[in-house]
Amino acid sequence: MNVYIETYGCQMNQADSGIVAKVLKQSGYNLVQSQDDADIILINTCAVRDNAEKRIHNRVHDLQGAKKKKPHLKIGIIGCMAERLKDSLINDDKVDIVCGPDSYRKIDELVKQSGAIDVELSEQETYEDIVPIELESDGISAFISIMRGCENFCTYCVVPYTRGKERSRSPQSIIEQAKKLFEQGYRDITLLGQNVNSYKYNENGKDVRFAELLLRVADINPLLRVRFATSHPKDLSVELVEAIAAKHNICKYIHLPVQSGSDVMLSKMNRKYTSDEYLKKIELIREKIPDCAISTDVIAGFCGESLEDHEKTLEMFKKVKYDSAYMFKYSDRPGTVAHKRFEDNIDEEEKVRRLQQIIDLQRELSLQSNQKDVGKTFEVLVEGESKRDKTKLFGRTSQNKVVIFDKEDNKKGDYIDVKIDSCTSATLFGKKLL
Ligand code: 5AD
Ligand code: SF4
Repeated sequence: MNVYIETYGCQMNQADSGIVAKVLKQSGYNLVQSQDDADIILINTCAVRDNAEKRIHNRVHDLQGAKKKKPHLKIGIIGCMAERLKDSLINDDKVDIVCGPDSYRKIDELVKQSGAIDVELSEQETYEDIVPIELESDGISAFISIMRGCENFCTYCVVPYTRGKERSRSPQSIIEQAKKLFEQGYRDITLLGQNVNSYKYNENGKDVRFAELLLRVADINPLLRVRFATSHPKDLSVELVEAIAAKHNICKYIHLPVQSGSDVMLSKMNRKYTSDEYLKKIELIREKIPDCAISTDVIAGFCGESLEDHEKTLEMFKKVKYDSAYMFKYSDRPGTVAHKRFEDNIDEEEKVRRLQQIIDLQRELSLQSNQKDVGKTFEVLVEGESKRDKTKLFGRTSQNKVVIFDKEDNKKGDYIDVKIDSCTSATLFGKKLL
């Protein structure tokens, strides 16, 4: 039986698809690269915003056409949408398999049946003994999921309901996976969790926290770059910032979602910090790691957001001068506290306008950030050929910026020093330093 796995949404989903692939492979299934060769199509889904879900409903609808030509074809929904929508996916969307994020060990049993559903959440499952298959891999960058679930209950967010309670994997299993990846040639590893700074594992009676784990992974080899995502500002500790500063191979890049610049909105979102407290964390980073890049997530048009609140978000962006940002308009999610208690009262047009203002501002800030790099030299890890120009390579700096430069005799996986000579708001261009 041939299985094709399609992944939407976050990096965590990419890592999870690798786990699903491994479970199926161990049970004798073939993994194929094209849906045309598949007997089973599994779609790993995201439920964070309504438009992500709409896309999946459309995709499933289109696949019903493929099913007409190939009647034995089975379609499965796995991940957050499976958890959120449960049997309605079987009744309304006519899928054959529904498997939530904590049921992947049973995926081989589920795909044998029709109308099979398992969406039970677990308080222990971390899949730590399953070494995932690196799907869609470039051979250089890989993800390691170190903890699962989230208990922060930001009022707008569906994740605590779809991914359940927080639980961490043993440091030993993480280190083993990272070592294996390094031996296979991987050079850039991202430690993943909904909230990595909540990482906590009791090892022989002593708690290992995230900062310590990060240092241990970095100690595997100085040629292994280590990144992490995502951290919650309320838990960004001095120890963590010091750990990042201490090791050359822990990347100088922190993704620190702010969500809003307004204290009124932050409180309503249950973010557990004020704008001042957030800015203090930024100061801490700037003081201890002067060359650190900072990115963020932001939501425009949350329930009751006034123009003044929105202005405060723009001010926050100007103060922090983010290097990059993931920007969203608020999407009401059934089941969340915001859905139950607040009115989604900013109309669509206004949400779009506010979001566009943030996007325009960030484009300018990204350009300024890149312009500051012109004339400087960065250590770049080569990740592959540039898609637009085969005579060029691309790679990333420790700060997570993409750099394009002449290929010459360099190859994937090399570290080379590149002097930046020009930029756009999205990319740096440079020459290898001789
Ligand atoms: N609407 C819009 N954006 C959301 N996010 C989470 N929930 C919602 C929602 N209901 C965004 C947050 C989070 C990122 C992963 O997705 O910014 O950090
Ligand atoms: Fe959602 Fe907040 Fe948890 Fe992030 S920290 S996954 S935004 S509830």
